[in-house]
Amino acid sequence: MTMRLIGSLSLIWLFLATAALAQDNDPVLDTTGQALQRGQEYYIKPAITDSGGRFTLIRRNDSCPLFVGQENVTGPEGFPVIFTPFDEEESVIRVSRDFSVAFQAFTICVQSNNWKVGETDIETGRRLIVTGPVSEGSPNEKTVSFFRIDENQVGDNIYNLVWCPSEVCPGCRPRCGTIGNLVENGKILSALDGNVLPVVFERA
Ligand SMILES: *[C@@H]1O[C@H](CO)[C@@H](O)[C@H](O)[C@H]1NC(C)=O
Ligand SMILES: *[C@@H]1O[C@H](CO)[C@@H](O)[C@H](O)[C@H]1NC(C)=O
Repeated sequence: MTMRLIGSLSLIWLFLATAALAQDNDPVLDTTGQALQRGQEYYIKPAITDSGGRFTLIRRNDSCPLFVGQENVTGPEGFPVIFTPFDEEESVIRVSRDFSVAFQAFTICVQSNNWKVGETDIETGRRLIVTGPVSEGSPNEKTVSFFRIDENQVGDNIYNLVWCPSEVCPGCRPRCGTIGNLVENGKILSALDGNVLPVVFERA
């Protein structure tokens, strides 16, 4: 009886502590030091030189869906994204918290431009990031559509894009990964399970 009470109390405590921690997570900052906001457009670009240009939609072959990737060179090209926190009350994008993310673009593919973890590239064994509607279904099935941003130790306002859903499916044990890139037929594709691409966020 006592043990059970202690058990429930510590569960409640754990829950409160987790909720408080999540609330306290620092906001992700853009290149001017402002907190990233829900629904606002941002370009994502490499924090380091010689690693491609802004994030954009890539036509990998002649079919849909389009893939998430980068422009070949630094410049004004690319599509902005908007972030939507999983927590409906939250208006700011905070480090290590779940959100869905979508390119703001019209394309030949008749579907939404939300990012999701897609197929594994056969040659490299790396999981590619594709676009499509936010996955419906069980919490576990939804996890593919939720990403987060973690701090990168390299410098101020520099971050990693990470797939490690937790809020969307608290009991899940995802095989977490950080977004880097790979080159296929001269096109830069975003992928997990390899190099890591530090990024910054530029308000559009
Ligand atoms: C094109 O890409 C799609 C999505 O990855 C894939 O299902 C399809 O097999 C590819 N088609 C060709 C011709 O490679
Ligand atoms: C980058 O260059 C390759 C090879 O020339 C080309 O196929 C691809 O479309 C280019 N990527 C972008 C985003 O323009």
